[in-house]
Amino acid sequence: TVYQATASAPVNIAVIKYWGKRDTKLILPTNSSLSVTLDQDHLRSTTTSRADPSFDHDRLWLNGKEEEIKGDGRTATCIAELKRLRKEVEDADSNAPKLSTFPVHIASYNNFPTAAGLASSASGFAALVSSLAQLYELPASPSTLSLISRQGSGSACRSLYGGYVAWNVGTDPSGVDSNAVEVAPREHWPDMHALICVVSDDKKGTSSTSGMQRTVETSALLQHRIKHVVPQRMADISKAIQERDFDSFAQITMADSNQFHAVALDTAPPIFYLNDVSRSIIQVVVEYNRLSLANGGGYKAAYTYDAGPNAVIYAPEKNMKEIIQLILNYFPQKDAFKDTFALFKNDKAEGKLPAGFNKNVAKVHQAGEVRNLIHTRVGDGPRKLSSE
Ligand code: DP6
Repeated sequence: TVYQATASAPVNIAVIKYWGKRDTKLILPTNSSLSVTLDQDHLRSTTTSRADPSFDHDRLWLNGKEEEIKGDGRTATCIAELKRLRKEVEDADSNAPKLSTFPVHIASYNNFPTAAGLASSASGFAALVSSLAQLYELPASPSTLSLISRQGSGSACRSLYGGYVAWNVGTDPSGVDSNAVEVAPREHWPDMHALICVVSDDKKGTSSTSGMQRTVETSALLQHRIKHVVPQRMADISKAIQERDFDSFAQITMADSNQFHAVALDTAPPIFYLNDVSRSIIQVVVEYNRLSLANGGGYKAAYTYDAGPNAVIYAPEKNMKEIIQLILNYFPQKDAFKDTFALFKNDKAEGKLPAGFNKNVAKVHQAGEVRNLIHTRVGDGPRKLSSE
């Protein structure tokens, strides 16, 4: 018999940011966070796992290239946790094949290029955990599996669900209550679209893992954020999602992105993730919302930035075409635009800026360029692709 399973898992982009660990080994955060899962039709990691008694040891390939599994590393921890759960299945059922004793070979692929500027660790660890859970026929819920993928990469725990997902900070030192939970499924608010603006970035910045640790050690502002800001924002944005209230969702999302980058700046030595293009996109979104509010409308778009210069703009579907045109107007494309991942074929640049739009809000021509736009939307959770 061949013991093999394939699963895919989505990318997620936080609107309330995780930044800081209280336990670096178990990956327990200093605050709760909340994210939107993006559509796997556009962005996903796909992982195949195989268990075989003839294998010599556990091995891992990422995009076709073998990566060493370090004994005390995050991948080894996830595999060990899943084998432990498999052992429980075998102890309860003497007929179950002893897969927990077999080495595994794991191969994972991202369908998006590294050049897309997206972190792949969240979808990568979620897909690894999902494929092994399927291979081992574990009776585990996504929430239980989130406890394991969390130990691969904190943000990966949120990729075990589709839709709108919270990661509870928890209080137990063992981490049992620091799990991911579904706030609302995709179907509750399917109108949420996302535009990833890939911004040119030559130098490699500070990694999330080391950057957030430095923030925990040196930032007084982080302590204020943890105690006095995030708990209320978690409650408020959950309510906004329940009520499909984009105005509140947008205000909280932008405020939390701003505070995360303020906390990075408050770190010693300071960490800069935004560049001039990132800041120009903020100014364009602010002006776009100002114009709508001035005309008696509501918020039309919300920006958010992770540990890098790329913008993610969340907006209701009906505004997306206008937003794409706005970005393309502001950031002229020298080369043919690579819209490989565009959701709509007619996302092309055309037309003018909206009437009344102050085109002087951002000096972007000297600032650099937007390399690529990826238009996608809220998506579903991990998928089983095949057993065999
Ligand atoms: C800014 O999950 O990549 O994207 O737990 O050390 O692997 P580790 O860090 P990681 O940090 C993500 C930080 C963030 C915010 C977020 O996704 O919530």
